[in-house]
Amino acid sequence: MPLIAFLSRRSMLAAGAAALLAASAAQAQETVKIGLILPMTGPFASTGRQIEAAAKLYIAQNGDTVAGKKIQLLLQDDGGVADQTKRIAQEMIVNQKVAFLAGFGLTPLAFAVAPLSTQAKVPTVVMAAATSSITEKSPYILRTSFTLPQATVPLADWAAKNNIKTVVTVVADYGPGIDAENAFKTRFAAAGGQVTEAIRVPIANPDFAPFLQRVKDAKPNAVFVFVPSGVGSAFMKQFKERGLAEAGIRLIGTGDVTDDDILNNMGEVALGTITTHHYSAAHDSPENKAFVSAFKAASKDMRPNFMAVGGYDGIALIYQALKATNGATGGDALLAAMKTAKWMSPRGPIAIDPQTRDIVQNIYFREVKSVGGELYNVEFGAAEAVKDPGKSPTN
Ligand code: PHB
Repeated sequence: MPLIAFLSRRSMLAAGAAALLAASAAQAQETVKIGLILPMTGPFASTGRQIEAAAKLYIAQNGDTVAGKKIQLLLQDDGGVADQTKRIAQEMIVNQKVAFLAGFGLTPLAFAVAPLSTQAKVPTVVMAAATSSITEKSPYILRTSFTLPQATVPLADWAAKNNIKTVVTVVADYGPGIDAENAFKTRFAAAGGQVTEAIRVPIANPDFAPFLQRVKDAKPNAVFVFVPSGVGSAFMKQFKERGLAEAGIRLIGTGDVTDDDILNNMGEVALGTITTHHYSAAHDSPENKAFVSAFKAASKDMRPNFMAVGGYDGIALIYQALKATNGATGGDALLAAMKTAKWMSPRGPIAIDPQTRDIVQNIYFREVKSVGGELYNVEFGAAEAVKDPGKSPTN
């Protein structure tokens, strides 16, 4: 073959290959994949169920195309096991080429993925896990749930102002529980109260009975509790059986213990429990009324809990970022857009703090009451625009 013909044949082939590559790149660009990793099985499956329903609701309400890009939600179950979360995240980054990672039902699951987010520069939206330090584990992590110090500090203030002088804390023995214990102890002491005993219980299948007997013997004015979403019923049952209320010990805690997913089945023992949290299904706003009714209609009458709102707002954050970049999916561009996001959620006004990438939101004071024959966390006040105090030097 004459050299010239050979060269042009080669360049034609090269051009063909380049076109193919460009076509597949264009195709890849048309779809934006969100890798959603949740515990859909195991003891924390209610978190997965709530977040999945909320994420799908957001997409159904807002369409599955943003800035010309088709949104594809890839859901995988990690069973609440960190090694699984990590393996799935890796596969989603390398093979699926996801533009975002999202979900993370428990703190250890978020910790496991943080190094991968950093390495691959993939914006990672924590929709559930709530240990303060999670957002410090990668500059690509943002959070739409809450932090335990954020939810706890207003309650310590409330307790001190409401004639509670002595408290025993009971928390699940891992990141968020330790954050809650420390935040309560420090803030309550600063307000003149005293934590007389700090009890930590195992996270998996805890038997609260012996711990609550210790609380009863210590005779504090109140017990402060943090248990992760899904565990509140077991705690309430033991609180009742041990007769703590009859012994004059009040129950206060973050709203995880009176989780809307299970509250209505707790019975009378829950009545009067005072909690602080960022979301109640009973939150009185037009945005929340619309959210609750659409959520129930889409999910067999399931009541949304605080996990659901974290999932709903997590997808809202992703949509806003894609709109801001006009559909461009480079991790750093998306991250920049996400860091300054601010919007109205069913829980009230929220924003991402550009310094910490953590959520800024109202923390509401609530009391469990019977409303129309159902138990709800009824709000009676709010601490407004609370940043995570876990990252400030005062805590
Ligand atoms: C967490 O593991 O970070 C976690 C899980 C459930 C909660 C709160 C925090 O309700």
